[in-house]
Amino acid sequence: MRVCIFGTGYVGLVSGTCLAEVGHDVVCVDVDAAKIDGLEHGIIPIYEPGLTPMVKANHAAGRLRFTTDAAAGVAHGEVIFIAVGTPPDEDGSADLQYVLAVARTIGQHLRKPVVVVDKSTVPVGTADKVRTTIAAELAARGESIAFDVVSNPEFLKEGAAVEDCMRPDRIVIGADSPAAVATLKRLYAPFNRNHDRIVAMDVRSAELTKYAANAMLATKISFMNEIANIAEQVGADIEHVRKGIGSDPRIGWHFIYPGAGYGGSCFPKDVQALARIADQHGVEPRLLGAVEAVNEAQKGHLFELMVRHYGGIDALRGKTVALWGLAFKPNTDDMREASSRRLLQQLWDAGARVRAYDPEAIEETRRIFGERDDLTLCASASDALEGTDALVVVTEWKQFRSPDFAMLASTLADRAVFDGRNLYEPIEVEAAGLAYYGIARGRSL
Ligand code: UGA
Repeated sequence: MRVCIFGTGYVGLVSGTCLAEVGHDVVCVDVDAAKIDGLEHGIIPIYEPGLTPMVKANHAAGRLRFTTDAAAGVAHGEVIFIAVGTPPDEDGSADLQYVLAVARTIGQHLRKPVVVVDKSTVPVGTADKVRTTIAAELAARGESIAFDVVSNPEFLKEGAAVEDCMRPDRIVIGADSPAAVATLKRLYAPFNRNHDRIVAMDVRSAELTKYAANAMLATKISFMNEIANIAEQVGADIEHVRKGIGSDPRIGWHFIYPGAGYGGSCFPKDVQALARIADQHGVEPRLLGAVEAVNEAQKGHLFELMVRHYGGIDALRGKTVALWGLAFKPNTDDMREASSRRLLQQLWDAGARVRAYDPEAIEETRRIFGERDDLTLCASASDALEGTDALVVVTEWKQFRSPDFAMLASTLADRAVFDGRNLYEPIEVEAAGLAYYGIARGRSL
């Protein structure tokens, strides 16, 4: 089928590439000419495992093209995706200006019936606004062309985006017309083998499903972080508690890892946006506000552990800290809302210097913070340790999981390890002569 995708961010680029991979003829449109030019020349703006070769192969096969020409994109698509950003407004609501700008563009260039698909995470009721916007543009041109607006939220995870997109656990299609559902079923048929993954519903339910999924996951994390805070005070080991509850299938093993708080472009933004949706419809979002507040506090927890170890903020002045892991999670270079950012700022404010390493996010960190005297971006994990007093681990990249603790003990002047993701066994670390601080590992502080 002929597909047009507006927006070549995470969602648009990955979805477009995967649709081309299964044989569809895809044109991706973006207003960023430099990005489009780069993509046409095989330069992929994000780090995502498996994406680069897939983009190049499909581009070479002529099934995946990139353009800034919106009119050509609209002319091409039988199905047109809106996959542009919805950044938070000042009050936390999703800002729809980019989504509605695309809707206007579609309305201005539409010449034949089409199915328009909202792929971006958008507030309940957005499909109606998109429909009204397109209709107004058609009316202004004196045209009456039939079109559908469908909500088809994306559930991919950064770091596993290609895999999630190629093997989705569900495909939510929110549509008000059986014809539109049939079109999307045809589009997704290659992803829908073995058992039916399509969950068809009305538009508003689909829009809410996306927020409900992310808010539920964020709630699990904040819940565990709160239990960890309790565990820390009562002297319980949260890792035992986690295993003890995860074995109940109603609770499950996933997303119950306590840590340095959740970050990324989705959970923080979506929890806030859902709270605003609730507010706007007269529902007091009691739980969602708490989920966010717990997470905000948790992002400061590693620093609190450091302050406790050193016996006060002032003792951190002049220290040099090795920091492993800058990205908001492993397998991505994304630093949006990353817990490392809060910690960096707190350390700098306390007068400490940081030697930091991340396998993918060094460039992004440089872009965000620029050159500064109190930040050295290092080429390897061991390089980051040189001349430092303590180590803090913020992101659980695989390569940080089994360090040589004896080497750490001889390198870190203050012999202290702060483990924000519970990667290490306290006994093992301590046996090497290091002080160990994890998230609620069993000794009350
Ligand atoms: C999230 C959802 O997991 C996807 O299903 C969704 O499609 C996506 O948002 C989206 O809306 O686009 P993502 O933001 O890529 O995906 O990252 P996650 O893997 O969910 O991790 C989010 C954060 O939670 C990370 O900072 C991670 O370290 C943290 N986390 C995760 C924990 O602290 N504990 C856990 O047990 C799990």
